Amino acid sequence: MHFLKKANIKSGQKVLIFGASGSVGTSAVQLARYFGAEVTGLCSTSNLDLVKSLGAIKVIDYTKEDFSNHSEYYDIIFDTVGKSSISGCLKSLKKEGIYLHSVVTPALSIRMRLTSIMTGKVLLGGTLTPKAEDLIYLKELVEKGELKPIIDRRYPLEQIVEAHKYVDKGHKNGDVVIIV
Ligand SMILES: NC(=O)c1ccc[n+]([C@@H]2O[C@H](COP(=O)([O-])OP(=O)(O)OC[C@H]3O[C@@H](n4cnc5c(N)ncnc54)[C@H](OP(=O)(O)O)[C@@H]3O)[C@@H](O)[C@H]2O)c1
Repeated sequence: MHFLKKANIKSGQKVLIFGASGSVGTSAVQLARYFGAEVTGLCSTSNLDLVKSLGAIKVIDYTKEDFSNHSEYYDIIFDTVGKSSISGCLKSLKKEGIYLHSVVTPALSIRMRLTSIMTGKVLLGGTLTPKAEDLIYLKELVEKGELKPIIDRRYPLEQIVEAHKYVDKGHKNGDVVIIV
């Protein structure tokens, strides 16, 4: 929600989500749809149905096709997993479009700033600061059935090492829960 609000998401906008089946991605797809956007999700073959079920109007299998060949232009492209190429995304952004990135290293941050200066496009990253009012808002969306937490696996605290190993593979769907 932090990133989509930062991009001032509006109803009717076209939004592309990279990593649509991950933790940030499954929330981003659902929230963008809730805010009235037309969502396209990028994920691999086995996750196409999951991402569609979360409200994406279109899904693109990144193992089979390059989204930038689709001749679609987006108002917002949100990379939730750090797998996009800036130049590829800028080609598919509308003139006033915004590129969002939630996995920004210092080097990438500098690159994004320079790209912004050189192209005039808006590229936004950073780290969110959790706010109580946002959590309450999200809790209400969950209670209304508008936001579904996607839980891939649950591990007891004693198996935290196995849990990290699984998460580090980079292919979980939604979240992994640790039971304390
Ligand atoms: N800036 C901030 O404040 C902030 C806040 C929260 C998280 N983060 C960062 O955000 C990142 C994402 O976290 P997360 O927990 O959401 O990740 P995650 O759940 O581990 O992401 C896994 C997902 O990424 C997908 N994926 C892997 N390679 C892909 C590719 N090339 N193209 C598209 N999708 C791909 C996988 O789908 P497939 O299996 O289909 O490949 C999988 O469903 C982390 O680096 C985290 O540190 C930043």
